[in-house]
Amino acid sequence: MTGLLEQPKTDSAPQLSLPMAQRQARLRPIETDGVPALLAERVTKRFVVGRKRKPVVAVNDVSLRIPRGEIYGILGANGSGKSTLIRLVSTLLTLDAGRVEVFGHDIEREEMAVKRVINRVSVDAAFFKKLSPHENLTYAARLYGMDAGQAKRDAIEILARLGIGEKRLSRPLEQMSRGMQQKVAIARALLTSPTLLLLDEPTTGLDPRSKLDVQAFIEELRDTHDATIVLTTHDLDEAERLCDRIAVINDGRVVVEDTPDALKAKVAAERGLAPTLESAFMTYTGKSLDDDLGDDDKDDDDE
Ligand SMILES: Nc1ncnc2c1ncn2[C@@H]1O[C@H](COP(=O)(O)OP(=O)(O)O)[C@@H](O)[C@H]1O
Ligand SMILES: [Mg+2]
Repeated sequence: MTGLLEQPKTDSAPQLSLPMAQRQARLRPIETDGVPALLAERVTKRFVVGRKRKPVVAVNDVSLRIPRGEIYGILGANGSGKSTLIRLVSTLLTLDAGRVEVFGHDIEREEMAVKRVINRVSVDAAFFKKLSPHENLTYAARLYGMDAGQAKRDAIEILARLGIGEKRLSRPLEQMSRGMQQKVAIARALLTSPTLLLLDEPTTGLDPRSKLDVQAFIEELRDTHDATIVLTTHDLDEAERLCDRIAVINDGRVVVEDTPDALKAKVAAERGLAPTLESAFMTYTGKSLDDDLGDDDKDDDDE
């Protein structure tokens, strides 16, 4: 194995020793011409649940191709398979079928390389709550094998952009609001670059103010950072505001994929409906997102 930053061969790329390559990778983008940030082909994941061992197909034959630099939304009701898909891509779950590549690295055969460029932020980000943001970020930097001083400077800069001043960085995380903790989680995920940032419902459960803050930050990332972002949401406004393209997922399947504008135009042209994401969502899933909190009465085909 040549290393973590192995890249497609280009005639001009010199072979660098690993520490140097790592440092360079932070300064300029890795050559990834034509290589998508995320490629998923016919991915399937089943769970076997309950006393009856009834299989649930959480992710069903999903294919995605996400170019570098995009903010890509996975929009779906609760239980539609969003988190499972994210956890598969971040190598926390194994695939039952299909394959996934991250910046050209196969997630099964090159797991370590993938782990370096992938960062997942889930609703309940794993943190050492007794430690300060600063300590948490330093810990993460060590985990990634980064220079601690540089990581610290990067972290401070990122957090400043998030509205978290340096003074607050030494207080235990558990004393901060959830919105604040979520921002620190995103900052931690940005320490490595280039990065495929997987944000699993990054704003769910946040108060309205923190939600807008975090959304604004994600928008800013698109413009300023070398990040490709996949975010899941069941918030139509959020999807519309943030995402370059959206996949609508229903019962584990991608039922439609397009830009928000194209999705809206399509339902208007084809069905004569109001040009909104809401009508697009209802058209393609047969569901409304508003009443997704109840159990969406899955067909009971018990034997
Ligand atoms: N670890 C698990 N064990 C069993 N079933 C699971 C597990 N994780 C998810 N599921 C099931 O897979 C389906 C998709 O869940 P999930 O990916 O969490 O959806 P979402 O994130 O869109 O709410 C649901 O039916 C859920 O109950
Ligand atoms: Mg989920």
